[in-house]
Amino acid sequence: MTVLLTGGAGYIGSHTAAELLAAGYDVIIADNFSNSSPAVLDRLEQIAWKRPKLYNVDVSDKSAFERVFAENKIDSVIHFAGYKSVGESVRVPLNYYRNNIDCTLATLELVDKYSVNSFIFSSSATVYGAENEVPYREDMRVGPCSNPYGWTKLFIEQIIKDFSSAKPEFSAVLLRYFNPVGAHRSGLIGEDPRGIPNNLMPYISKVAVGALPVLKIFGNDYPTRDGTGVRDYIHVIDLAKGHVAAMRFAENNRGTEVFNLGTGKGESVLEMVGAFGNACGRPVPYEFAPRRSGDLPEYYADVRKANEVLGWKAELSVADMCRDAWNWQSRNPNGYEE
Ligand code: UFG
Repeated sequence: MTVLLTGGAGYIGSHTAAELLAAGYDVIIADNFSNSSPAVLDRLEQIAWKRPKLYNVDVSDKSAFERVFAENKIDSVIHFAGYKSVGESVRVPLNYYRNNIDCTLATLELVDKYSVNSFIFSSSATVYGAENEVPYREDMRVGPCSNPYGWTKLFIEQIIKDFSSAKPEFSAVLLRYFNPVGAHRSGLIGEDPRGIPNNLMPYISKVAVGALPVLKIFGNDYPTRDGTGVRDYIHVIDLAKGHVAAMRFAENNRGTEVFNLGTGKGESVLEMVGAFGNACGRPVPYEFAPRRSGDLPEYYADVRKANEVLGWKAELSVADMCRDAWNWQSRNPNGYEE
């Protein structure tokens, strides 16, 4: 069986590729490396003893992207390609709407033309409106989103649902990720953000390795157990396995289904900082700073649907997440750059 990963060289795509290769699937990656590195391919080959087939192509360029479908018999598509920085999406919203929606429309039009009937989309917990109570359940209301990045995820969910309704043989799975962290156990692939990281775990990792001086904790006056923000951190390998389970589900079903991928448990920023200090063997320096605009105090997933329907459950602990993030960071202090 052949699976096409759009944006497959990115953080979540590359870990999903590793899991798919380990499970015996043939993997094709379509990526223009706008926010990833071609070195991922060598690393995947070292991990899996098998190299994914690569197309260096902009997925939003439909005529260039079509070659992938024309030259291969694709059974399933996992659509990761898209911009993903919340802050950047506020600064250049049109780039986010243009790129993320064009990538999706091009992919869906080709999926339609080449009769691919299994489709998985990389969505986000950010689609849940801020008014919902925690834990977030898949049937809760979505929107309004707090930034253009979140809106692109929500609009794309709707586009996929409409396409799916019009095509009875089609099966789509929308995966709403909570906070993916960690890295492959081998330390060969991991998260490699360009510039100064926006997200907590890569920032902590850079402080721990000495590349940044101190972590700023955004807010210590939230109504949470220690005043810092609470999130549902999920090991990227558990997340990757969730994609394999979703794909198997899509192959045997029709219509659109939505699943949360999280652990169902919330951790505070201070708890994550403490756990990372244990993993790397020294405390991570931090200071408190004002709240970051748009951040919610606390949210985590209700994971019962994925447990029951997909037979999938996150298995790795926060200690595993920190151990693997530190292993990746300390072996690759400059990410994929040699
Ligand atoms: N935080 C800090 N200091 C930092 C970075 C983050 O204190 O330098 C805190 C945040 O305030 C928050 C927590 O760490 O309480 C997690 O922040 P992240 O930026 O790692 O993650 P978010 O929950 O803000 O965002 C994530 C994804 C987005 C997604 C969003 C909602 O990065 O893609 O979840 O699902 F949209």
